Parts: sequence; C-alpha cells; structure tokens
Amino acid sequence: MQKYLSKLFYVLTGTKRKLALILLAFISTSVLEAFGIGLIGPFFSIASRPQVIQEVSILDGIYQKLGLQESSQFILILGLVIVVIFCVQSALYFLAQTYIYRYSFNQKTRLTSRLMKSYLAAPYTFYLKQNTAAIIKNILTETNTFTQNSLQALLILITNLIVTAVLLILLAYTSPLLLVMILGILVPVFLLFQRLGNKFQNWGQIQSQTQSEMVRVINHGLGGLKETRVIGCEEYFENQMDREAQKYSRAATLFQAAQLLPNILIKTCLLVFVVLFISLSQVFFKNNGQDLTAVMSVFAVASVRLIPASSQLIQSIGRIRNSSHALDMLYLDLKEIEKREVYVYKNRELLPESKNNGLGNSRFNKNQAMTFVNQIDLTNVTYHYPDISEPAVKDISLSLKKGESIALIGKSGAGKTTLVDVILGLLEPQSGDIQVDAVSVYDNIRSWQNLIGYIPQSIFLIDDTMERNIAFGVADAQIDSERLHKAIKAAQLEELVEQLPEGIKTSVGERGVRLSGGQRQRIGIARALYHEREILVLDEATAALDNETESRVTEAIKSLAGTKTMIIIAHRLTTVEHCDRVYCLERGRVVKSGSYQEVVLEG
Ligand SMILES: Nc1ncnc2c1ncn2[C@@H]1O[C@H](COP(=O)(O)OP(=O)(O)O)[C@@H](O)[C@H]1O
Ligand SMILES: [Mg+2]
Repeated sequence: MQKYLSKLFYVLTGTKRKLALILLAFISTSVLEAFGIGLIGPFFSIASRPQVIQEVSILDGIYQKLGLQESSQFILILGLVIVVIFCVQSALYFLAQTYIYRYSFNQKTRLTSRLMKSYLAAPYTFYLKQNTAAIIKNILTETNTFTQNSLQALLILITNLIVTAVLLILLAYTSPLLLVMILGILVPVFLLFQRLGNKFQNWGQIQSQTQSEMVRVINHGLGGLKETRVIGCEEYFENQMDREAQKYSRAATLFQAAQLLPNILIKTCLLVFVVLFISLSQVFFKNNGQDLTAVMSVFAVASVRLIPASSQLIQSIGRIRNSSHALDMLYLDLKEIEKREVYVYKNRELLPESKNNGLGNSRFNKNQAMTFVNQIDLTNVTYHYPDISEPAVKDISLSLKKGESIALIGKSGAGKTTLVDVILGLLEPQSGDIQVDAVSVYDNIRSWQNLIGYIPQSIFLIDDTMERNIAFGVADAQIDSERLHKAIKAAQLEELVEQLPEGIKTSVGERGVRLSGGQRQRIGIARALYHEREILVLDEATAALDNETESRVTEAIKSLAGTKTMIIIAHRLTTVEHCDRVYCLERGRVVKSGSYQEVVLEG
C-alpha cells in the first residue's frame, strides 16, 4: 500500500494540497450525512413516543433550554434540523463531486501533457526497445484508468472507510449485538474480496496488455495496407484483433461482474440477518416491541448508507487493484525517462576532458548557441547498443572543417547509420567525444543539434500540407515564404508544386501516400534546407530515387558543397565523388580513408 501511494504521488502532477481539500470535502459531507442519519433514530422514537424527551436527559436539557411548551414543537424543530442537514449535505455533496470531476480530469490533462513531454524527451535508446503501441495506450487509456481507478477510487476508498467507521460506531452505541452481527457479514465479504485481489490485478493487466496489442495490430495491419492487401493476409490480422478483443472482453466482464458482488452479498446477508434478528428476538427474548422499533429504525437507516458505503469501500479496493498495472506502466515510464533526463550524458561527466570543458567554459550554458567556425572532431567514438557487447561503432576518429563534405561508405551493417546517430546526438557513445571548435557537444547537446539538418533514407511526412511538411514544426504564422521557395527550388520541387492543384497548400496524405518516393525524399531535403542548418547529415538520402531524380538531387546537394558542411552516407558511390574525404567503414571501424580517388578508385 505504501509503495502504491508513493507511485501514485509520483504520477500525480501538480500540488497535492488540492487532494487534501477534496478529502476534507468528502469527509465532511459524509460525516454530516452520518450525523443526519443518527438523528433520524431519535426523531422516529420521539415521534412515536413523545415521553422519550423527558426520559433522556440530553433531550430534556435541550427541550428546557429552548423553552418549548409542547413536544410536537420539539419534534418539528428536530425534523427541521434533519431536513436542513440533509439539504446542506446534498448541496455539499454535489459541489464536492463536481470538484472531484474537475480535479481528476484536470489531472488527466496534466498527466497526458506530462507523458507527451516525457516521451518526446526520452533518449533515443528508449525507443529501441519500446513499442509505440504501448506509448499510445499509456497516453490515451492508462491516463483514464489512472484518474478513475487509481485516483478517484483511492478518494472513494478513504471516504467510505470513514463513513463506514462512523456508522459502525453509531451502531455500536445503539446496539453492540447488531454491530457484531453486521461485522459478521462485512468481514467475510471483505476477506473474500481480499482473496480475489490478485485476480483483480490480473484482469487489469490483461485489459491493459490487450489494449496495447490492439493498437499494435491496427498499426501492423493498416500500416502495411499495401502488403496486407496484396499478400491477402487480412484474415491474419482480423484473427489477431478478434483474439485480443475477446481477451479484453473476458477480463472486463469478470472484473465488472466481480465488482457487483460486494453490494449484492452485503445486501442479501443484511436482509437475512434483519429478518433473523427480529424473529429470534421475538422468540427467545420476548423483547418489547417498542425498543425493537427504535433499534431497527437506526439500523434500517444506517443500512441505507452502510450498504453502499461498505460495498463501495470494497469495490474501490478492487478498482485500485485492477488499475495497479496501469499505474505501474505510467510510473515506470515516467520514472525511467525523468530520471534519465536528470542524468543525461552521465557517462560524459566521467570523462576528464569534458569535465574540464564543462567547468572551464562556464559561458556554455543551456541557452547559449553553439558556434561553429573552424572544425568538428570526433575522437575515439565507440558505441554499442544496449545489451549487445560487440560495438556497432568502434574507436572512430575523424575531423571535418567548416564547409567540407565527407562521405561514409561501406557495406550494409557496417555501422554508418549508427555513427550518424551518434553524431546527431541520438545515441550517446560509451566513450570518446565529439567536439566543435574544441568544445564538447555534450556540454550542450541541444545547441549542437540546432546546427544540424538531417535527411534520412525514408522521410517522415505528416498528414498535412506540403508547406507544413517542409517548414516542419514551425507555426503557420512564422513560416518564412521566401525561405520556403528557396528550399523548394533547391530541392527540385518547383515543377511538382506547380502541378499540384493547391500548390504548397496541397495535402500530402498520411505518410505522404499521395506522393512518389522521390517526391517524398525531395520534401525531406527541402525541409533540411528550409531550416538553414549549418551541417547537413544525409543517410542514404537519395537511395530511393530513380537515376534521373537522384542526379538532379545530387546536383542540388553538390551545389551546396562549400556553403554547408556535409556528412553523406551513400550507397551509390558516384554521388559522393565531390566529397573532400571518404571514410570506408567495416564492422564499425574505419578501414580506409582518403580522397575519393584513393579510397574508391584505387581501393
Ligand atoms: N537498435 C539496435 N540494436 C542492436 N543492434 C543494432 C541496432 N541497430 C543496428 N544494430 C546493429 O548495428 C550494426 C550497424 O548497423 P547500422 O549502423 O545500421 O549499419 P549501416 O547503416 O552501415 O548499414 C548492425 O550489425 C546492426 O545489426
Ligand atoms: Mg544505414
């Protein structure tokens, strides 16, 4: 439970003070209600037997104080007090409930934003092992589960715990025998549910997992719709979806059905006990009827509240158990990413030379732009993927001056992309350093990345207009149309834009389905050019283009040589002819370097 709370408080965003306030509102309405219920007993007794006022000293005292002449007036006043209490309680209850909804949906909003922010900030390696289906599920459904089944259920649990306790005390005061009987019902039901606890957890886990599986099946089936259709394997995905949906329904049905049990069990048992109590007390004790009426009226009214309170109490334990998997998922992801954020480039701090830079160059703070005047140096960069001992990139040192272009060549799997990902700051090398003008990029990775434009082999396009795809991540009002046209021209996209019905305002479709591969690729190039970055990194950027387009794009790239610093991975060697230096990689190492002449023609 303690662990559960610490996780819950970690996932909870914003102040916890509001939570205390809600709890207070909850408790006060409940206590008010219990108090009102407590007054109903005496009210009934007095109404049926006014002489009770004289017999009970407290009532007599109040009666004298108020200076009333008749007991009917007292009954009226007591009735009014009860009415007022219930009216105030109802109003408070409504306000408190509304507040809870506002608070919990607010929590959901904050949590959703916090998750989005965390996932965007997560180190690239996080995505090497995490499926996006699980992330989509966390953001969309687990936030709901958290607010409803963790947060609200916890509040309901605490409130009902208090209400139940108050009512039981009230009952103990009226009749200890009844208390024992009621506990005789509640405790077994509670214990039964306690035993079911693991089942609740299990159902919750199944519900959570099947939901992420369903997103995955959608991604797989629809993501590769062309392949699915041509191969004709729709049924395969249909069956997968069907299986997951059924698993989900089964778990949800069991959970919901089990949630009905406390109410039903308590109600039935209570009814049986009431009937038995009355019958037996008549048979064995020949109890006088009037005492019984008073006792039973408190009991009956208390039951009106005791049944829902105790069954809600038990239900909320079930909900909490059910949501514990969701809470774990959110907690683990947030914890992992947020912890990493603090320790970003922790390895780096261990390197003495960077440490010197970090401390020595205090002018390099987060907001400072990195200057690039002379050259970039990679020294002994080694990277191996998590859990893989063989490094994908080993001991690589290279330098390039501003305005130079270098090419990385080598067979597939040689480590070119990995090296580029390290240069892009996506992967943090286990050893070695990258320096710009003798300043480590790890002192301020963001401003290093601000220098880089990246064009991968397959461009990611958003389902939006050409314009927004080129000026990726820039708000409409801030899009510079002159820069846009320059980028379009340089990327050889002018002709296409002229043909399109709405020009640059034409939508490209999801992942660019309305464009050809070559056109998509040129949008990627235009995007890198639009952002006017100093250094361009091209990872097989022209590999998907036809010969003619490729040579046109290569021309465009070549024309930038000298003005931009470029790192080019090429599968077709002719496209890197113009590069100042060529590095040939093999199994993560540079095996040869020199001019194009030396490496490609003579090698
Ligand atoms: N996420 C990953 N986890 C583990 N190994 C990887 C991962 N990505 C790539 N590798 C391995 O690293 C090596 C280099 O891959 P990569 O840099 O993509 O080669 P290239 O771009 O030269 O074709 C390959 O052996 C590949 O299997
Ligand atoms: Mg590659």
